[in-house]
This record gives sequence, C-alpha cells and structure tokens, in this order.
Amino acid sequence: MSTILGIESTAHTFGIGIVSDGKILVNIKDTYTTEAGGIIPTNAAKHHAEISEKIYCEALNISKISEDKIDAIAFSQGPGLSPCLLEGIKFAKHLSKKLNKPIVPVHHCIAHLEIGKITKAKDPVMLYVSGANTQIIAYSTGKYRIFGETLDLGVGNFIDTFARNMGIGFPGGPKIQQLASESKNYVELPYVVKGMDISLSGILTNLKQKFNSKNYPKEDLCYSMQETVFAMLIETAERALAHTGKKELLLGGGVACNSRLQEMAKKMCDERGVKFFVPPNNLLTDNGAMIAYLGEIMFKKNGFLFKKRNYDGRKILFEEKDFDKLDIKPRQRTDEVEVLWK
Ligand code: ATP
Ligand code: FE2
Repeated sequence: MSTILGIESTAHTFGIGIVSDGKILVNIKDTYTTEAGGIIPTNAAKHHAEISEKIYCEALNISKISEDKIDAIAFSQGPGLSPCLLEGIKFAKHLSKKLNKPIVPVHHCIAHLEIGKITKAKDPVMLYVSGANTQIIAYSTGKYRIFGETLDLGVGNFIDTFARNMGIGFPGGPKIQQLASESKNYVELPYVVKGMDISLSGILTNLKQKFNSKNYPKEDLCYSMQETVFAMLIETAERALAHTGKKELLLGGGVACNSRLQEMAKKMCDERGVKFFVPPNNLLTDNGAMIAYLGEIMFKKNGFLFKKRNYDGRKILFEEKDFDKLDIKPRQRTDEVEVLWK
C-alpha cells in the first residue's frame, strides 16, 4: 500500500491530488483565469506561489490523510511554462524535505495519458488535445511514440487565441462550445491535414479576418471552427488506429471536455469497431491527481529521488546528489521519456 501526493503547476492550474493504490482520494485545484486577454506566465506563477500552501492543507483535510501517511511527493517536471514549473518544483522539494519522503518527477503529457487507464483502457491510441499540446500518442517498444501532432499551435491555445480575438476571456474553450451550440450554419474554412499532422495557424488567420469583417455571426464561426478542426483531429486519430492496429481510442487534455469532439470521436470508433474511452472532465484538464497517479506507478518501480541511499530496502535509480540538481524540463517531449514502469 502506498500513498502519493501529486503537484500540478505547468500552466494556469495549481492542483494537488492524493492517490493510494490507484484510487484518487482527493483532487483539488485553483486555476488562474482572466476576464479578457491571455495567460501571463509570471502572473500565473505568482498565483501558484500564493495558493500552494492553502491547496495542500485543503487536500489533507478533504482526504483525511495526515502528512506522515504520505510516501512520496510527485510533481510535474515539464513540459510547461518555466515560471509556473519552478513554483511546482519548489513546493515539491519543500514537502519532500519537510516530510523526509522521496520525490518523483513526472512528465505532464504522459500523466494526461496514464490517468486515462482509470477508464479501463489498456493499450489505447490517445488523442491528446490540451492548451499547448496536440498529439496522437501510442505506446510502442519502450516509449510513448507520437504518431501525429500539430505543426504550430496546440488546439487549446488556438481556441483560446480565437476567443481572445472575439473579446472572450481565458479559457475560451467552454464559452466557444456554448456559442457553437447556438448555430448550425457552416462557413467554409481551410482544412489543413498534412499526412499525420495538422496545422492551425492558417485557420486562425482566416477566422480572425472573417470575424473582423463583421459579416459573420460569432456563433457561426464557433460552430464552423469546431466542425472543421475536430474533423481534422478525428481524421488523423483514425489513421493512427489503422496504422497501429490498436483497438482503443482514449481522449485526454482539456479540449477533450468538448462534448462535440467526444461525439465525433465516438462515432468514428463505432464505425471502426474500436472501443472509445474518455475520463471525467476533472481528470481531462490539468490536475494533481494525474500526477499522483503516474507518480505512484513510477514510485512502485523505483523511479524516484531520495536523500537517503536506501529506501525501504529498494534500489533507487537516482543518486542522492541528484536531488539538489533535480530541475524542471520545460521542453521535454513525450517521446524522450524512457517508460521504465511498464
Ligand atoms: P498542456 O497539457 O498542453 O500543458 P494545458 O495544461 O494548458 O495544456 P489543459 O488544462 O489540459 O491544458 O487544457 C486547457 C485547455 O482546454 C484550454 O485551452 C481550454 O480552452 C480548453 N478547454 C477546456 N474546456 C473546453 C471545451 N469544452 N471545449 C474546448 N476546449 C476546452
Ligand atoms: Fe495539461
């Protein structure tokens, strides 16, 4: 039996989750939002620094777990915004020292994927659609491989930028979904799939021009944006399913909260005879539980750092001196991570 506390701080959200033997005991967060304009990394980091201790105490209270029952501290090491990541690692090291417990560095994108296993998906192709990232990922020979991705913007950032252009605050996704549901009038937009990859910057320019021309209602543009961009995502995901021969599709990342995207993905899966999985919304957007969840899997396989050389008699992969050197990895890619826990 182990109990792991996970810290998420890669971008707008500071979250803490506690997981014990794969069961989520608590998953709380506080998200930096704006009424208008986008996310300013240093402001988001300031938010995280101010809120961390409060969220930590609340997590302990809600889960009724006392500090001494925590076996390890997992945190999001990257990728993400450096100022935000730095607040996360600072808090993780502080807790690791205070509780005298190991620290587990977790890759944020892979955590988005691994938490999907809670739906009982075993070996899925994952359509990972979040703010900064848009990738089609599947496991093959020791790593999570990227079968397709965006060549420029992440789909969440694309949606948020479009929202900002229309004077909607951050995050734009839920508001755009609402506006899209009020129209059925399709306006032609560029459809940009290049092999297994997609590109969004041309569509963004086109949408901006159409919005600025004042000839198109917001609702029509939101509807058409969703229909076009989600079709591009589903097309590439379907091709990855065909290529890998895998029989499961899993959605992950904040944009996967979108019910229209879920509907299109389910339809494609039904037509192909593939099983479709999507975790609940609070596990799709950034959260601490997914970091604790993967952290626990890694912890059980000795992928952690500790000040002492021997921990419970288990072999430790990292040396003691590495603890102080342990740093954030703002640009680490999914396919750089050796998956040692499988
Ligand atoms: P990354 O994982 O790339 O670091 P992130 O951490 O910023 O990205 P998430 O919390 O996974 O992202 O997702 C946030 C994004 O999800 C935002 O861009 C937001 O607009 C988008 N989003 C949330 N709900 C919806 C929705 N219903 N429809 C579309 N997009 C949505
Ligand atoms: Fe994320």
